[in-house]
Amino acid sequence: MAASKTLLFLGFVAICLLTGGLATEIEVRNLDPDIHLTTPQLVAKYGYPIEEHEVTTADGYILTLHRIPYGKKSPASENRPPVLLQHGLLCSSADWVVMGPEHGFGYLLADAGYDVWLGNARGNVYSKKHRDDITQGEYWDFSWHEMGIYDLPAVIDHILETTKQEKLFYAGHSMGTTMFYVMASERPEYNDKIRAMFSMAPVAHMNHMQNIFVKLIANFTDGLGVLLNLLGVNEFMPKTELLESLGQLLCRDTAITQDICSNILFLIAGFDSDQLNKTALPVILGHTPAGAATKEFLHYGQTTHSKKFRKYDYGLLGNMKRYGSIHPPEYKLNKITAPVALHYGVNDLLADEQDTDTLSHELPNTIGKFRVAHDKFNHLDFLWAIDAKPLLYDIIIRFMGRY
Ligand SMILES: *[C@@H]1O[C@H](CO)[C@@H](O)[C@H](O)[C@H]1NC(C)=O
Ligand SMILES: *[C@@H]1O[C@H](CO)[C@@H](O)[C@H](O)[C@H]1NC(C)=O
Repeated sequence: MAASKTLLFLGFVAICLLTGGLATEIEVRNLDPDIHLTTPQLVAKYGYPIEEHEVTTADGYILTLHRIPYGKKSPASENRPPVLLQHGLLCSSADWVVMGPEHGFGYLLADAGYDVWLGNARGNVYSKKHRDDITQGEYWDFSWHEMGIYDLPAVIDHILETTKQEKLFYAGHSMGTTMFYVMASERPEYNDKIRAMFSMAPVAHMNHMQNIFVKLIANFTDGLGVLLNLLGVNEFMPKTELLESLGQLLCRDTAITQDICSNILFLIAGFDSDQLNKTALPVILGHTPAGAATKEFLHYGQTTHSKKFRKYDYGLLGNMKRYGSIHPPEYKLNKITAPVALHYGVNDLLADEQDTDTLSHELPNTIGKFRVAHDKFNHLDFLWAIDAKPLLYDIIIRFMGRY
């Protein structure tokens, strides 16, 4: 089974390479103008107000925050409660707006009366700048640990200063939840700034995770040095126009290869979901992958391999030097005092039900554990599902109203 899926993936890579030259030659670039719109352009296209804010972290990374300060169905006013939406691995602020006002969580929250802030983690297409003149190797030397201890505190401070509020809501998807758990355990003073946190497809423990790519990385962690040299401390799959054009060419409605596109997503996220809108694939793939560091993947591979949610493993000597111990220290989940709701899908290959269950018992202030009421709901359905609104977003918005 796993072998045939790997073959499928390799087949896709081969097709990509073969058609790559072709795609650039015939310039398919502008078949659908939406795929090249940035997050602010998308939001503006749908008639919502949009702002762009730059935030510099304590270690010099310059991040772009997008803001939808109010909605169309709910006008501007003082004291709209701020919500920070944080995307996952390889994604960006576009996740929350690309599906349009009827489906996108960003618009739904703005229309429900919230002041919506869309984060962009270091290294993605909107957050690639650095204050200092550093090398590529120095720049890409981060995982979600640094996003937790530097990015989120800087972003949260900026939002609270700008809005003159004392607390905000946080909703994260996948790595957007991992970063939060890192922040709230390593910098526990930030718990007081959170009204409530909503974890969509929570990822901390990965003991039951079924994704074959992460498993593959996990199997190689013993040869981590080799793997690191192979991949480099570097950017993983940079966002390129070629990739966008390929998504456009191979995944649009008229392409015979469209099923391969959806199968690749299923391979990553969970099989046979009927919630994927295939017509929207070219637009989705115009925004994803949006950039990430190799180290983010390796850190997840380590988490799977060690069965421990802990800091990055630098090997025996590196760990002694950095942490003063042979093994990296575990994150202290019992320090997370902010109220946390956990939303998971039973067909999710990355955020497993059993791991969510373990997490719910370790977090001191779990306010609910919710299984999305759909048997095929997978990891990416949290962002793009046809019925994400009734199945998930409406429920979170209603729950937010209580905090
Ligand atoms: C990882 O290693 C285990 C045990 O050696 C093996 O059973 C499994 O198939 C491997 N998984 C992958 C994805 O390579
Ligand atoms: C699927 O996506 C297309 C293009 O974005 C959109 O026009 C259509 O309404 C969507 N269908 C559903 C069922 O959401």
